[in-house]
Amino acid sequence: MKSMPWPLWIAHRGAGKLAPENTLAAFRLGAQHGYSAFECDVKLSADGVPFLLHDATLDRTTNARGMASQRHWTELSRLDAGSWHSRAYAGEPLASFDAIAAFCLGNGHALNIEIKPTPGDEHRTGEVVAAEAARRWAGRTVPPLLSSFQAAALQGARGSAPQLPRALLLDSLHSGWFEQAQQLGCVAVVANFNLYSREMVERLHGAGQWALAYTVNDESPARWLLGLGLDGLITDAVDRFSPHAGRLG
Ligand code: G3P
Ligand code: MG
Repeated sequence: MKSMPWPLWIAHRGAGKLAPENTLAAFRLGAQHGYSAFECDVKLSADGVPFLLHDATLDRTTNARGMASQRHWTELSRLDAGSWHSRAYAGEPLASFDAIAAFCLGNGHALNIEIKPTPGDEHRTGEVVAAEAARRWAGRTVPPLLSSFQAAALQGARGSAPQLPRALLLDSLHSGWFEQAQQLGCVAVVANFNLYSREMVERLHGAGQWALAYTVNDESPARWLLGLGLDGLITDAVDRFSPHAGRLG
């Protein structure tokens, strides 16, 4: 099978825990550490604008409370998404998907867009995020990789931008996971690193699918996964793992 046209190491939520997750500041910090491939979580505002946020609520990572999906982007864009992390980032705004796309496209960075729908809005979120990604990346050699734990989100993405590569996220090896990834036309599986075995990697590679893992923050599992022949490692530890470290095994 063809090797994945991506750096091996992918910065989780921009720069892991070193900067407020899923903000432009985090992406800039990850890039300062030499990273050129990133993962982020994208959902929709009340008026359908894709933006970056991991949780369904604003509570943990902004100065507001409640469901993010109930607010319009004009309101979300004025929140403080940095003070929760540290004073150095006070006032850092939430990032629109548009801003992150501009940063990645302007710097030639690869982007793994995790479609993280507000519960109940899976299909539409996949549709909108994929359509917007296709518009922004039109004509580029390396498209973004769209991933989700939610099959309905990947179905939505397939409906509006079938040309963009998709990956099924796995936090357990539930019954039928392999067939589900194939039925969704995925090019890759992105699994919790603890789930991997040599057999699983061989099964994926045998089906022409790439095997990626999250969230790899320590040396010992990193070596083990590299030995298994994984195609991508998503990490918080952008200050400890060189993005230029080669593939092993
Ligand atoms: O996309 C990999 C990883 O980010 C999935 O889990 O909860 O960190 O978004 P989570
Ligand atoms: Mg994620």
